[in-house]
Amino acid sequence: AAHDPDGSGSGVAPGAPRPLRSHEWFGESGRNGFIHRSWMKAQGFSEEVFDGRPVIGICNTWSELTPCNAHLRRLAESVKRGVWQAGGFPVEFPVMSLGETMLRPTAMLFRNLLSMDVEESLRGNPVDGAVLLTGCDKTTPGSVMGAASVDLPTLVVTGGPMLNGKFRGCDIGSGTAVWQFTQDLNAGRMSVEDYEAAESGMSRSNGHCMTMGTASTMACMVEALGLQLPGSAAVPAVDSRRYAIAQRAGQRIVAMVHEDLRMSRIVTRASFANAIRTNAALGGSTNAVIHLLAIAGRLGVPLELADFDTWTADVPWLVDLQPSGRFLMEDFYYAGGLPAVLRELLPVLDRDALTVTGKSIGENVAGAVRTEGTEVIRPLAEPLAMGAGTAVLRGNLAPDGAVIKRSAASPRLLRHRGRALVFDSIEEYDAVVDDPGLDVDADTVLVLRYAGPRGYPGMPEVGNLTIPRKLAEQGIDDLVRISDARMSGTAYGTVVLHACPEAAVGGPLALVRTGDWIELDVERRSLHLDVPDDELDRRRAAWTPPHLPHDRGWARLYVDRVLQASEGCDLDFLVGGSGSAVARQSH
Ligand code: FES
Ligand code: MG
Repeated sequence: AAHDPDGSGSGVAPGAPRPLRSHEWFGESGRNGFIHRSWMKAQGFSEEVFDGRPVIGICNTWSELTPCNAHLRRLAESVKRGVWQAGGFPVEFPVMSLGETMLRPTAMLFRNLLSMDVEESLRGNPVDGAVLLTGCDKTTPGSVMGAASVDLPTLVVTGGPMLNGKFRGCDIGSGTAVWQFTQDLNAGRMSVEDYEAAESGMSRSNGHCMTMGTASTMACMVEALGLQLPGSAAVPAVDSRRYAIAQRAGQRIVAMVHEDLRMSRIVTRASFANAIRTNAALGGSTNAVIHLLAIAGRLGVPLELADFDTWTADVPWLVDLQPSGRFLMEDFYYAGGLPAVLRELLPVLDRDALTVTGKSIGENVAGAVRTEGTEVIRPLAEPLAMGAGTAVLRGNLAPDGAVIKRSAASPRLLRHRGRALVFDSIEEYDAVVDDPGLDVDADTVLVLRYAGPRGYPGMPEVGNLTIPRKLAEQGIDDLVRISDARMSGTAYGTVVLHACPEAAVGGPLALVRTGDWIELDVERRSLHLDVPDDELDRRRAAWTPPHLPHDRGWARLYVDRVLQASEGCDLDFLVGGSGSAVARQSH
């Protein structure tokens, strides 16, 4: 206790730099130090990398099965350049990657598994600070959740969006155009040949979806939370400036380690309020609701579903990007990107919130410029709409809440009464969607259930049910749809999602019958099943839980322990963190 200036028990002389956690591996003189250093030397590193400098873990979700993240090994080289430049020692390692377009039944089933991989990889290794390389939808929240439970100095570098898709001289957006073109194909408005040609024009460079889908949304969310360098989120994946920013991130994380600027100092209730308000201004993804709740849970920051509604009522929708609006991420970058939006929003943000720069978000964006003469980012005084973000609905169909993205819905359907047409699985729906005899009209409310976190499992993005062919051919392009599922951040429509509790655990969605009347009133935030309580009680008594055929492995653990959407779909035992204390020796 004679020399314990920082309370770490390290016995360092006063005034000497604080020994870092990596020093417990590389700074040892005996047998274990020999082992830790010698095997690292196998890679050709010279002696001075073990001199006590910050070791920066570059946590990489690169994978050729996650095409959105396929360029992240090259991006890692830029981060390393910056780490070396600042006197750190960069070490890159892979973690599980989650490809949204590949993984079945849904990448979401594995978000928490990725988070465990990130958490244990960071804590178990000689790492003093972390750079998270992410991109595709679930890779950003999964990585941030894991790092949050360790709480080292952490910086996120997202991989950036693809260039705008192109088809016959027009810009087409990832995902969004798929939903649109599929509807056109079904309605006979698009040829099979054109449909196939569009497939090649949509994804024409490295990067994640270039609509304001979940990947772009989460890239903006981590920047708004203060976890990513200002101006990072929108830079296209193939733009040289993304590589320059990655190099700067490498430099900055070394300084963050010296400053002991941990994630928990940056990500607070104030920064969540900033991120959630920003999402409303962006017309961002509904998936952000679940991911932000989960990240908050890891950090012990109080955050609840209702905050997403109360905090966004006074927020203007400023960014005209697909799926809610017209433009794409490349346009967004040229128009000024996220800093320009944050600068417009400063009157409704907490401008003092700290960020990875060591400065406040207000300071970061003070000089941001919204490019004149574009319509991509609106000034605060001329919004596309007010309060168009995610609304949280309640009622006897969703006692614990459901969400709807107003900017992506049809205004005429935001107040609606219609008869339910109920499906217990997406396969059951897909089997009849083209049926000309389907008993459906423009007022029908499509209900899909048993597609929640436990029921599917993983809560897939099937909530935006395709419009039945019969109606599509009549030019009807939207119906009220209600489910316990999610939808892709690139999707649109009057779609009520995340109904809680889900049907598989006995939520009231399980009690709806075809022909029941359902009332949606978004203005009043209500979602009501017009069936008397005593009848619902009878139905509840007769209800039997579905058999969930998952008897082993990850799916078993997931189904047993996953929380509902209103709580972020984390596993119950992963909520919170275990810090960065160094574990016992391995030899
Ligand atoms: Fe990866 Fe959309 S599929 S971001
Ligand atoms: Mg998605």
